[in-house]
Order: sequence, then C-alpha cells, then structure tokens
Amino acid sequence: MSKKIQIQDELARLFADSHFKYRKINPTPRLRKSLEQGFVNGHFAPFTAKGGGLFLRRSKKQQLVAAVLITTVPVEFQSKIFERKFMILSMPGDSSSLKWAKSVLEENESLLGKRCSGKLEYWQKDLIPWFESKGIGIRSVLLHGDIDKSLRLLRAHYGKTLRESFEKAGLHILPARSIKDIDSYIRLIKSEFTKNPQFGATVKNPKFLKFVKMDQRNNMKNGNPPLLVYRGKTLCGGLDLIEVPAGLDGKKRAAFGINLNSKMQGKGLSRALYERILLELQKRGFKTYYGNTGQPGVMRMGKIMGRWVGGYTLDRGVARPFPKDHFKLWL
Ligand SMILES: CC(C)(COP(=O)(O)OP(=O)(O)OC[C@H]1O[C@@H](n2cnc3c(N)ncnc32)[C@H](O)[C@@H]1OP(=O)(O)O)[C@@H](O)C(=O)NCCC(=O)NCCS
Repeated sequence: MSKKIQIQDELARLFADSHFKYRKINPTPRLRKSLEQGFVNGHFAPFTAKGGGLFLRRSKKQQLVAAVLITTVPVEFQSKIFERKFMILSMPGDSSSLKWAKSVLEENESLLGKRCSGKLEYWQKDLIPWFESKGIGIRSVLLHGDIDKSLRLLRAHYGKTLRESFEKAGLHILPARSIKDIDSYIRLIKSEFTKNPQFGATVKNPKFLKFVKMDQRNNMKNGNPPLLVYRGKTLCGGLDLIEVPAGLDGKKRAAFGINLNSKMQGKGLSRALYERILLELQKRGFKTYYGNTGQPGVMRMGKIMGRWVGGYTLDRGVARPFPKDHFKLWL
C-alpha cells in the first residue's frame, strides 16, 4: 500500500470514529465503510489537489490521533476564484489534540491566506475564539434533525396555534404544476437571498441557481415537485427538498429549502411550513434531515424541533455578517 493511500485510510478512519463516538453509534462494517468513503470522496479529495498543508499528530504507538488539513478550493460552486480551506480531525473529548491543532494553525497562519473558510466539528468549538481572534468567524451552523421527533415536538410546542396564523393570512400550499411555477419560485429565492446574502451567499452564484432549478425540474418529472405557498394566485414562498446521502444511521436523509417572501416573514408563519415539509418527508420515507443555517428563525425553530448541532462553517468574510452573539443558541 502506498504511503498516500495509507494516510488517506487513517484519516478516513479517524473521521468516521469521531463522528460515531459523538453520536454514540456502534456502526455496522457497511456503515463505517460508507462514511469513510464519503470522507475520501467529499472531504479528502480536494486536499490532494493543490498546495496547502497536511499536519498529523500521532500517539507514542504511532496511531493517528489528530490532523489539520489546509488546501485550496473554489470560493463557490464551480467558481474560478480560489480560497484556502481548512479542516481539523480529532476525537470528541480530546482537548490536548485541540491544543496541538491550535499551535499548528498559529505556526502556519500564513497558509490560511486572505480568503479562507473551513469546518469545525461541534466538539472542536473551543477553537472558535482563536479563529475569531484572526478575523475568521462563524457563517453557519450545521443542524441535523430527526423527522418523527421534530414533528412531535413542533406540534407539542405550538398546539392549536400551529396553523392559525397561516390560515388567517389566507395562505395555502400547492405542489408546483409546471416548469413556469418552478422558475417563478427560483426567482423568489434569488430575490430573498439577494436582500440577505448572509443567509445564503451561494444563491447569488448563477451556476448554483441553475443547479437548483435543474434539480427541482427533475424532481417534478419524477413526481416530487416543490411545494409552493400562495395567497390567492400570488406566489409567496415554497419548500423544496432533495435527497442527500444517508446519515450516520444509514437511513434515508433529506435537505430542504424553506422560503417566504419578505412581506410574509416575522409573522410566525414558518411553523406551518415546517409541519408541512416534515409530513411530506415522512410520507416519502425519509428519517432524518440536515441543513446549514445562520437564519435566526430557522435556528430558533431548530431548538423547538429538537435538532442537534453537527458543526460550524467559518470564514474570513470581507464584512463580518453577524453580531457577536448571533449563534449563541447553538454554541
Ligand atoms: C426562514 C423563514 C422561512 C423563517 O420564517 P420567519 O417568518 O422569518 O420566522 P417566524 O416568524 O415564523 O418565526 C419563527 C421563530 O423564530 C423566531 N425568530 C424569527 N426571527 C427571529 C430573530 N431575528 N431573532 C430571534 N428569533 C427570531 C420567532 O420568534 C419564532 O419563534 P417563536 O414561535 O418562539 O416566537 C423566512 O425568514 C424566510 O423565508 N427567509 C428568507 C429565506 C431564508 O433565509 N431561508 C432559510 C435559509 S436557511
């Protein structure tokens, strides 16, 4: 086995071990293999592409216990502008490896460059103050959810008021019926995120929107169109879901977009939308869902629905998008 493959396998094992430990999961060999493969394809592959650095920490017995990975990637989906990207591997509860990672970063700070972003796992959150001191702040928090549990908690929390404001506002939800409906919905998403790019900057990227459009058109062809919110005939928002690779439990998992136009926001309407999308996910046999967010309403609803935090995306923004305590619910 070549040295490179051996290190790749060790990193993949550490990545999988740390996630299984965090979620207290005793994985089947198949599940472990799929998570390790996911790491190699999704996380490690870009690290082998361009300059950066790979720093390894080993125990006395030469076992890999932590790693710092720094590489160069496009700033957005298919962009030709590049930035540095970082990732840290460590086991939950291993604070000495976090100290080690901090000193590696400190010594190699120049590798992070002027533009950089990266991910920290939940159990690495003690490193956030160091990143913040270097001007690299949290952009979004990764929230996971269990569909049955979320629906139960949502209903228990809001009781009779779950659909009240939605119905009073004269809103109703219909599946998209044509390509034209989907295109109108994409325009609505673009317009809302252009007003608030801090909640989804990638939406400004035409390639990303083209991808979402194609995805939703395909979903429609397969009998799973996005669900659109109307007042009379006016489009006011929508819910779009996609199937993503299985989670740590090996079961069917989804990600979804939830959108209202700005006139409809801040009126307690999202709870009815959450109920609808969770019911839809249940109907289609999904078990869990996840998404990255910095949106205050979504973060608050996440608490109500018993979601749990996987980690954080950090970046060195040109302008700091959020006030200091923005993510306090999830730290
Ligand atoms: C995301 C979205 C659907 C949320 O809906 P909303 O109308 O803003 O939120 P709601 O009025 O339903 O509020 C939901 C909960 O969050 C709380 N909340 C909303 N905005 C908040 C804020 N700025 N700070 C703290 N809490 C907030 C509400 O008080 C409510 O909790 P409560 O029932 O305990 O009072 C809507 O803002 C939207 O479509 N935004 C544009 C697209 C977008 O950003 N999508 C999400 C990307 S991750």
